[in-house]
Amino acid sequence: MTHPAAIALGVRLMVLAASPDESAAQVVPGTVVADEKALADLVAFAAECEVVTFDHEHVPPDHLRSLEASGVVVRPRSAALLHAQDKAVMRARLTAVGVPCPRHRLVADPGEVSAFAAEVGWPLVLKRTRGGYDGRGVWVARSSDEVTEALRSGVPVLAEEHVDFRRELSAVVARSPSGQGVAYPVVESVQRDGMCVEVVAPAPGLPAHLAVEAQRIALTIAAELDVEGVLAVELFETVDGRLLVNELAMRPHNSGHWGIDGAVTSQFENHLRAVLDLPLGSPAPRAPYTVMVNVLGGDLPGAYSAYRHVLARDPDLRVHWYGKSVRPGRKVGHVTVCGNDVDDLRDRARHAAAHLRGDIDE
Ligand SMILES: Nc1ncnc2c1ncn2[C@@H]1O[C@H](COP(=O)(O)OP(=O)(O)OP(=O)(O)O)[C@@H](O)[C@H]1O
Ligand SMILES: [Mg+2]
Repeated sequence: MTHPAAIALGVRLMVLAASPDESAAQVVPGTVVADEKALADLVAFAAECEVVTFDHEHVPPDHLRSLEASGVVVRPRSAALLHAQDKAVMRARLTAVGVPCPRHRLVADPGEVSAFAAEVGWPLVLKRTRGGYDGRGVWVARSSDEVTEALRSGVPVLAEEHVDFRRELSAVVARSPSGQGVAYPVVESVQRDGMCVEVVAPAPGLPAHLAVEAQRIALTIAAELDVEGVLAVELFETVDGRLLVNELAMRPHNSGHWGIDGAVTSQFENHLRAVLDLPLGSPAPRAPYTVMVNVLGGDLPGAYSAYRHVLARDPDLRVHWYGKSVRPGRKVGHVTVCGNDVDDLRDRARHAAAHLRGDIDE
């Protein structure tokens, strides 16, 4: 999804991918298949690039520091990216700069978990500090009997109060090395089993003061952490009307995919503009509402027979495939539809995604 933006900007995008089957490797000519966890591979690749950036957070921080020490321009810088790689580092820094977060503590054994629970109450959310994604590495513990799995690895985990939230929001911003920042409309992101399944832009019914506050929080974090590129701030809107930050991503994020079709400038284009220190494009929406629904791999092998039907049934809807092999529950694409009536848009996007997954056939 970054490649079309690079083409339009006249920028040559090079990709280092772990395998030739990866989505970007299938479409970007000259993709280098290498190991993003091997420093020598990164050094060889970076030698060809003016600027190096990421579409995930799994490149080891030590390697990024080595690249920077040898003069490679890495954006976002390793010191900023660390806050998206390590949830403990992120919590400590956000708390220090006054950003509202759930109550939290690093815990290493069941005794420390129980002591924290005595303060904030059960259930607790336990999170691996590094390496989790799509809800992997996150556990909800309802009592002290349910903490063993999270603590099994032996490394400290982050314990958080279980936030009583009304819904989850996301504030996506882009910031350039020159310090220019733009904020996308704050979206509602619906999670199922720890995975984003649906996004509505802007979040319906979000009071203006909370929308502005969420954008202000995201721009503040971007400035404080000196983020270069796109920053997504995942937030909870609590039942009592407060905002708490869940976590950060420093790359184009699932909650910003709607903008390919629904915003003047997509997050992918603004990520490239930002890391190249070009002026940023407008993040303004093109329609009152845009709904994006992820297409998850279904259990049926023939899940894609519905493709023609979906295209024909709703010509205003856009389908995006990622070129991934289908596995149950894996994100293999998304659909987007823009318009005025959010309930209608939601129905149409959900219907199309369910069809493509093979859950319904009419
Ligand atoms: N403190 C909390 N209270 C209540 N629910 C929570 C809390 N922390 C996380 N969750 C739920 O678990 C989901 C996944 O948590 P989190 O975003 O921290 O994990 P992740 O696996 O790193 O996510 P991602 O898929 O965004 O990479 C959240 O979207 C939210 O639904
Ligand atoms: Mg998350």
